Amino acid sequence: MRFNLVIAAAVALGTMSASAWAEGDSAKGEKVFRKCKACHEVAKEKNKVGPHLVGIVGRQAASIEAYKYGKGITDAAEKIGEWDEAELIEYLADPKAYIGGKSKMTFKLRKENERKDVVAYLASLGK
Ligand code: HEC
Repeated sequence: MRFNLVIAAAVALGTMSASAWAEGDSAKGEKVFRKCKACHEVAKEKNKVGPHLVGIVGRQAASIEAYKYGKGITDAAEKIGEWDEAELIEYLADPKAYIGGKSKMTFKLRKENERKDVVAYLASLGK
């Protein structure tokens, strides 16, 4: 009985994550990432105007020591915790609104499909 419950839960979770992220296309996301490149490096741990994004999915928010973050994201970092895909998709729409304070990232990625694609791309690099 208990065993069946565990299976049911695992199946439910599996379907959930598959349907939630099915729309993100990492190949398209790689092209979307061109918009981020002026400020972010993802291939190596090198900060530009913004912090590098190596391993950003699952990385603690505002945690690159060599990078000087703004106060807004530093204050929100504990609440955000480790960036997951849903949080990143929301953050990219409007970083200032998301952290609820001043943001050094003034860029907004308004199109939802582009946000999903670019986050799928970032997630694909982390694996
Ligand atoms: C004009 C420069 C600029 C562009 C373009 C830009 N960013 Fe940023 N980004 C920043 C800056 C600056 C910060 C630091 C934010 C702060 O300290 O408030 C940041 C922070 C971030 C963070 C939080 C990092 C952390 O360590 O918690 C993520 C994630 C991020 N950017 C992703 C992206 C993605 C993905 C794109 C492209 C869709 C993008 N950014 C485009 C400048 C930019």
